[in-house]
Amino acid sequence: MKKIAVLTSGGDAPGMNAAIRAVTRIANKKGLEVYGVMDGYQGLVEGRMKVLENQDVSEILSRGGTILGCARLPEFKQKEVQFKAIEQLYKRDIEGLIVIGGDGSYRGAYELSQLGFRCIGIPGTIDNDINGTDETIGFHTALNNIVDAVNKLRDTSSSHHRCFVIEVMGNNKDSLALYSSIACGSEFIITKNTGYDEDYIVKMMDYYERTQNKRHAIIIASEKIIDVEALAQRISKETGFSGRSIVLGHIQRGGSPVPEDRILASQMGQYAVDLLLDNLSGYCVCKRDNHIIGRPIIEALNDVNEIQDQMYQLFYEIV
Ligand code: ADP
Ligand code: F6P
Repeated sequence: MKKIAVLTSGGDAPGMNAAIRAVTRIANKKGLEVYGVMDGYQGLVEGRMKVLENQDVSEILSRGGTILGCARLPEFKQKEVQFKAIEQLYKRDIEGLIVIGGDGSYRGAYELSQLGFRCIGIPGTIDNDINGTDETIGFHTALNNIVDAVNKLRDTSSSHHRCFVIEVMGNNKDSLALYSSIACGSEFIITKNTGYDEDYIVKMMDYYERTQNKRHAIIIASEKIIDVEALAQRISKETGFSGRSIVLGHIQRGGSPVPEDRILASQMGQYAVDLLLDNLSGYCVCKRDNHIIGRPIIEALNDVNEIQDQMYQLFYEIV
């Protein structure tokens, strides 16, 4: 193998640049030419890619986002579109592709590998929703952003005797809501797994306010589950708190990656190049029990998230 390509896909995640840098530097050192594909599968299908030299990835380690750009291309589920992508790669004698993205991007990589093109996945998503790996690149930075924002909300909230209902990202998955609830000491968590009993939450908020002398309360909700403003209004009407809501939005996805994400991305970038050179395909890089390992993409996607159950247990025991 002489030439490989790398792309970032789905929602961008802080640390993707660190992964691009690691892939480029390690591969160059091993004698491979590296192509950076612009804008994920969209740029791949359109043949937008350029050679990445070591100096092209200088000074990107500390930058959020991705220098290659990200995109979503729903048509990539179609076989003929996937064939176009492979054609673009073969045209340049590229024999391996590293896809940095979330579960959707992994499915794209899996499909390409099923068509005979060598593909390796690196988990790059703030959602931490690839069960086969304990952590994904970007998760720690997004979590940090949430904790930072909630700390600020808590200051103003306790001054005004308020209950804040905060919507966090995660594409309907639990990790960001769950981990931030533990890290911020929220009174309630609302995710797909917890279910949602609005009457009960309002009653509990009233109880906390009247009997526990709480000056403020925090409710963290995963996106796409509830209307945070409607809940905040009900809290204002039916409890002693005044309710306020906030959707943290894309602020969570920005900013310089924290060291955990930079290090994870560097380790995973290195490992991904090794997997390609070992002639593996349809594999992804995972972190399991503090070890970086390679696993088939499908196995990683279908794995069970055991840590999540422990985290829910912790949240409910401590709240
Ligand atoms: P993420 O990778 O962060 O989960 P998406 O779910 O939006 O983000 O997926 C990113 C892209 O991966 C999609 O826009 C599409 O191009 C590709 N993709 C998603 N699902 C599939 C699939 N089943 N088959 C082929 N490609 C897919
Ligand atoms: O997958 C990352 C993510 O930030 C999700 O948490 C969120 O649901 C989605 O992307 C938002 O996508 P967009 O940036 O296209 O609005």
